[in-house]
Amino acid sequence: MQNNTFSTLFVGQNLIRLSAVDSTNNFLKEMVSKSEPLPEGTVIMADNQFAGRGQQENIWHATAGLNLTFSVFFKPVFLPINKQFMLNIAVSTGIRKALQQIVLQGIKVKWPNDIYFEDRKLGGILIENTLSGNCYKSSIVGIGINVNQEDFNPEQVKRATSLRKILQADVNLTELMGEICSSIEAEYLKLKSGNYNALLTEYLKGMYRFNEDAAYREAGIAFMGRIVDVTETGQLIIEAEGKNKSYNFKEIEFLNNTQ
Ligand code: BTN
Repeated sequence: MQNNTFSTLFVGQNLIRLSAVDSTNNFLKEMVSKSEPLPEGTVIMADNQFAGRGQQENIWHATAGLNLTFSVFFKPVFLPINKQFMLNIAVSTGIRKALQQIVLQGIKVKWPNDIYFEDRKLGGILIENTLSGNCYKSSIVGIGINVNQEDFNPEQVKRATSLRKILQADVNLTELMGEICSSIEAEYLKLKSGNYNALLTEYLKGMYRFNEDAAYREAGIAFMGRIVDVTETGQLIIEAEGKNKSYNFKEIEFLNNTQ
């Protein structure tokens, strides 16, 4: 455990830095299940996460020492269950705003919560919730950002990027982590105060392909459409041929506009 100098109220004030771990989400989950009540905002970060987990059972690859891989513990007990997606919105918007301070332009959130620079993935978020009855008990928010990595494996090479590739310069990992924690905290406090409209507006403002004609695929059929909204429960609303249709994750695929 180490002291830290993050200028936050609670996110990252209890910071545990590990030199190596399978997955920071796994580690934090284990801590939550068996230790004393853990302070909200506890962060587990790893220099080397050797079995990182992504969405849909994917593997999250990150070369040791070059990237940010960390998990934050939240207790969103105040969040109505039908507003579940608002936590994703708060976290992804917080990360987007922190990265935007460095990159200035082109950072977007691809629905539901991938961090993009132009058409490439710069980071991802894996949120794992625990419920107690009909209420949230705890949330483990795992965040992976490609920072100083330049070389990606063949699987990732076409669609991944990093801050180093964008800026042609190295970025200080601890400073960046502090900025991200403080920005996530600001958005989380908006969530806590029930400021859902402001959060949704910000999310749409920074959303990849919002209000642009683009190509999608539903059940094997490609079509042109335009993202017009997102619901508080997380459905994506696409307008095509004058009609709006809502999609759950996995029901819709984003295509390259040239596909
Ligand atoms: C995605 O598939 O886009 C989500 C990637 C989430 C990766 C992060 S890295 C830190 C935390 N620990 C994990 O095992 N996964 C998340």
